Amino acid sequence: GDATIGSKIFSANCAACHLGGSNVIMANKTLKKEALEKYNMNSLKGIINQVKKGKNAMPAFGGRLSDQQIEDVATYVLQQAKNGW
Ligand code: HEM
Repeated sequence: GDATIGSKIFSANCAACHLGGSNVIMANKTLKKEALEKYNMNSLKGIINQVKKGKNAMPAFGGRLSDQQIEDVATYVLQQAKNGW
């Protein structure tokens, strides 16, 4: 995935709830490395799956974003987690 493109997708679709890797709805479920590890979301596959299908208060993006866009935004999230947002 392309993290540079993913960054723009994140700003447009994710930042409302996840600004700076936070989570404004469910405070423990951030996009930081420790939380992704704790909730078994520290993989491209895991993030892609949740973004496609959604989970609880997080909306599904399958159909709104292409598979390529979802892969790019997941790549960006993992890169940011690695770099500490
Ligand atoms: C959880 C990514 C958009 C609300 C998560 C997690 C990821 C993620 C990776 C798992 C975090 C963890 O378990 O520590 C994204 C991406 C988005 C996006 C890449 C854009 C494409 C949104 C939006 C909202 C939202 C717009 C609010 C309307 C939530 C909530 C959770 C969550 C509530 C916790 C779900 C649960 O486990 O019950 N998100 N998110 N997300 N996100 Fe998003």
